Amino acid sequence: MDQEKERAPRNQTIALNKDETTKHSKHLIRLYKNTPFQDIINKTINQDTFEAIKYLPDNFVDLLFIDPPYNLTKKFNTQAFKEMKSTEYEDYIDSWLSGILRTLKPTASIYICGDWKSSSAIYNVMSKYFIIRNRITWEREKGRGAINNWKNCIEDIWFGTVSNNYYFDVDSVKLKRKVVAPYKDKNGNPKDWINSEEGAFRITHPSNIWTDITIPYWSMAENTDHPTQKPEKLLAKIILASSKPGDLVFDPFLGSGTTSVVAKKLQRDYCGIEIDNYYACLAEKRIDLANADQTIQGYHDGVFWERNSLGAQKRTKTNNFRLIYKNSSLFKQITGSMR
Ligand SMILES: C[S@@+](CC[C@H](N)C(=O)[O-])C[C@H]1O[C@@H](n2cnc3c(N)ncnc32)[C@H](O)[C@@H]1O
Repeated sequence: MDQEKERAPRNQTIALNKDETTKHSKHLIRLYKNTPFQDIINKTINQDTFEAIKYLPDNFVDLLFIDPPYNLTKKFNTQAFKEMKSTEYEDYIDSWLSGILRTLKPTASIYICGDWKSSSAIYNVMSKYFIIRNRITWEREKGRGAINNWKNCIEDIWFGTVSNNYYFDVDSVKLKRKVVAPYKDKNGNPKDWINSEEGAFRITHPSNIWTDITIPYWSMAENTDHPTQKPEKLLAKIILASSKPGDLVFDPFLGSGTTSVVAKKLQRDYCGIEIDNYYACLAEKRIDLANADQTIQGYHDGVFWERNSLGAQKRTKTNNFRLIYKNSSLFKQITGSMR
């Protein structure tokens, strides 16, 4: 990887020079037989997942997030993945997922990412071991148009749990949307929306289709050179909904570290495995940067915002909108109807 390439002045891409790689490498760990739990908590493991999972403790994971190589021919710096038959890809998923099972708490939630081609294989393997709860589809608005096919603009994330005893906090993942039709009730009050300094907004329940995600690009502070880096906003939704502060979030294909970074920003513990040394160091650098900057683009004031709403987010005073929302008739309507 070209670690010290020239970049445009507004390019915020996080990269590593040789000194930084040496510095962050010192914080990476490798697992051996009987590695104690305290040694893996809030750490990046730089090792082959197939080897490392043998040495992980039992029963320590609250939330498992997996973004494996999809069933595509793709290069990940020093590693290459080769497309295979769908049945072989199922065997590949099973070969690591079956080894991870014993690390999960009985209350754990599991999320596994894929594109349309890998999605059925993920479902087939996950449904052997877990209760499947949902399939999230998110709009991935970046990418080339196809000539003889529909442009590929979606990805899936399968959501499952180990048991029926699991945690899900829907209130922490509400969406803030501009109101298109601001109807009023017979007393002239907003019907199911809120009037705030920044305009008329509605707070809505999240569904299993996510259209508010932006893929990291060069002018975003979270961007790296990792070819399939997941957006922090996407991880924030999953971590907020399916874990509590202090819970442990585990990612066995950590890449540039998004899962650990967002877990840290949201006061969860984390542990991740990445085979490539440069990506593992990138993860460590981002984890360090999270000490000074806890912001997550698109998540502000306790709600998730639509794409391209940075101006309105900046105008919102911290906690202002949340307070208006909690006092609104809309909030009372929603929470009242849920009880
Ligand atoms: C799809 S990417 C994950 C991207 C990540 N979610 C992010 O936000 O950057 C998959 C990662 O798995 C890593 N990987 C592939 N095979 C691995 C293995 N056997 N053990 C550990 N890591 C592996 C690749 O190097 C790659 O960085």
